[in-house]
Amino acid sequence: MTDALDQYISGNLRKVDGWLTAFDARLIAALLRWQNANGVSGCLGEIGVHHGKLLILLQLAASADDAVFGVDLFEDQSENIDRSGRGDRQMLESNADRYGVGAAGLNLLQRNSLELEWPELRRLTGAECRFFSVDGGHTADITANDLAIADQSLTSDGVICLDDYFNKMFPEVSVGLCRFMQNADLAPFAISANKVFLCRPDFQAKYSDCLRASVGQAEHASDVDFFGYPTPVLRQPKGAYERVKTSRLARKLRDTALGEALKPLVRRVLFRQ
Ligand SMILES: C[S@@+](CC[C@H](N)C(=O)[O-])C[C@H]1O[C@@H](n2cnc3c(N)ncnc32)[C@H](O)[C@@H]1O
Repeated sequence: MTDALDQYISGNLRKVDGWLTAFDARLIAALLRWQNANGVSGCLGEIGVHHGKLLILLQLAASADDAVFGVDLFEDQSENIDRSGRGDRQMLESNADRYGVGAAGLNLLQRNSLELEWPELRRLTGAECRFFSVDGGHTADITANDLAIADQSLTSDGVICLDDYFNKMFPEVSVGLCRFMQNADLAPFAISANKVFLCRPDFQAKYSDCLRASVGQAEHASDVDFFGYPTPVLRQPKGAYERVKTSRLARKLRDTALGEALKPLVRRVLFRQ
């Protein structure tokens, strides 16, 4: 299981279309390994699967007894009101067959999550959730709705992972989480490239320590106070190209003829393209 998970993250992850960085994938793998090592059990799944980039990772990390589920509008894209991704069941199944454990082992549900209730999902999975990713519709109402389902589903030691909280293209995701957190018994335990991770307050210190320990020093930017909890901010340090691109000189040259002319050369030197 471990090898297949590592191989997926360092290889096939990039072949599956979607929105999961390799850095976030590594963090999620660290959490799932910690759960496996500490006897945390339950189903794993996601609302908003697109082509299965994260769902395949969940399936690779799951043990034989864990159900894995995915909920998406799939072919009902007319209901995808914020145009966040575009679920495609056929593409997902073919990716799961090629890069994961296989589509046959997935519990897939075509549904607008606004019409979904936890008891229905519970009947499908047969268990509460140890890992629930919220990445479906990106409006405030859908985010709060999906977080409520995740909250109801969660084991006492489970994890919820929310996408795009800090993405300025989808500001309503943060409205949805803030609204939901007013009455929730949940604590954030990490902020990463594009995810916010939540768990029950009793597990906040354990999970945040697990992630602090899983990254290098340069990847742990700081600890911030977030909804009243000390929360590590984890990020991938900028690569050489990113550092050059955001330098003062590059900003001065941007949109000039010289800057445009230099771009291919810089790419060639840094990426050996
Ligand atoms: C950003 S994509 C998900 C990306 C995916 N998690 C990944 O790993 O690449 C969002 C997905 O949510 C689905 N979606 C949008 N609104 C939804 C809704 N109301 N209910 C269920 N799924 C929805 C879309 O069809 C799309 O596949």
